[in-house]
Amino acid sequence: MRIQVKSNIRDYEVIIERNSISKLQEYFSFEGKVMIITDENIPLTYIQEVKKTIQKCYVYTVKAGDQSKSLEVYQAIIKELLYLHFDKFDCLIALGGGMIGDLTGFVASSYKRGIAYINVPTSTLAQIDSSIGGKVALNCHGVKNCIGFFYPAYKVIIDVNLLKTLPARHYYAGLVEALKAGILQDQTLYTLFKNQEVDTRIEEVIYRALMVKKKIIEMDEFDKNQRKLLNLGHTIGHALESSSKFHLLHGEAVAYGLLKMIDDFTLQKEVCRIIDSLQIDLHNIKYDKNSILEYVLNDKKIDHDKIDLVRVKGIEDCFLQRISLKELGDLL
Ligand SMILES: NC(=O)c1ccc[n+]([C@@H]2O[C@H](COP(=O)([O-])OP(=O)(O)OC[C@H]3O[C@@H](n4cnc5c(N)ncnc54)[C@H](O)[C@@H]3O)[C@@H](O)[C@H]2O)c1
Repeated sequence: MRIQVKSNIRDYEVIIERNSISKLQEYFSFEGKVMIITDENIPLTYIQEVKKTIQKCYVYTVKAGDQSKSLEVYQAIIKELLYLHFDKFDCLIALGGGMIGDLTGFVASSYKRGIAYINVPTSTLAQIDSSIGGKVALNCHGVKNCIGFFYPAYKVIIDVNLLKTLPARHYYAGLVEALKAGILQDQTLYTLFKNQEVDTRIEEVIYRALMVKKKIIEMDEFDKNQRKLLNLGHTIGHALESSSKFHLLHGEAVAYGLLKMIDDFTLQKEVCRIIDSLQIDLHNIKYDKNSILEYVLNDKKIDHDKIDLVRVKGIEDCFLQRISLKELGDLL
């Protein structure tokens, strides 16, 4: 399966194919040096598969976890690229989850004013969502994604076989982004969740979720208008994720935020059942309402005391609503 994404920066292609990591050369011509950027949890066999077909290939491994999306790690990678004399025509490969995609994309966007990078996402979240759309970022002073650019990968190569080694908790939490895409704009995708067919039809789930995101980012790449729809569940989700000191995974927190955006009780119950079927337990989540509102105040999307929320009337029937922090408090 292939998806062409149009971008104001550069158009790019997404390829969804099993065993594609062992034939990256077929999809991109690596002419100069290549550096794979990966983390310590990514199995060595994946790195070897990618390396096998590329002549001048180096590997840079960072610690797993969002703390590697930092200026310190960024500087260390730049130092290594300089040491190895990487030039403008060389290339990076992001081999990992969303953290590695964001970090590698950030390095690629700034090294020698921009070099090529290929994204080979290895987590559900990255295959379903973060590998397209061009957002690359680092965290700084404890604030997530506060330094960033738009810099899409030159190619995105998705091999669902890589998900076999992803821990179950990350696998299911990542799927929440696809559930969100189904609720936003794809009834068929939503039905796959309702009928619990997601695991057996994972390629279709990834393809459909990416198609929803593609349509939205092609209309509003730089997050001025319609792209805000992709934030469904994320305003409360991000605040909850931060206030839990990241004990909750992104997808788990978004699942909670998503439920709060659904007014219709019957639909809310149905989505709740779907989230249960993804082995995500939302029943014991506890939080302090004021601390959630405090985190929302730091949200990049807040405009004075107002914020745009994505509300759900029904499947494929969502709308943006500007509300005050007080009204948000009433929803919690
Ligand atoms: N750029 C965007 O549009 C965008 C969108 C959403 C999230 N993000 C970012 O993505 C990151 C979260 O992504 P994530 O959930 O993939 O987290 P992650 O990259 O930290 O990966 C989760 C865990 O799974 C491990 N892992 C990944 N793939 C594996 C595999 N195939 N086998 C074994 N272990 C594997 C990782 O080492 C890590 O421990 C955050 O930094 C978030 O800010 C970016």
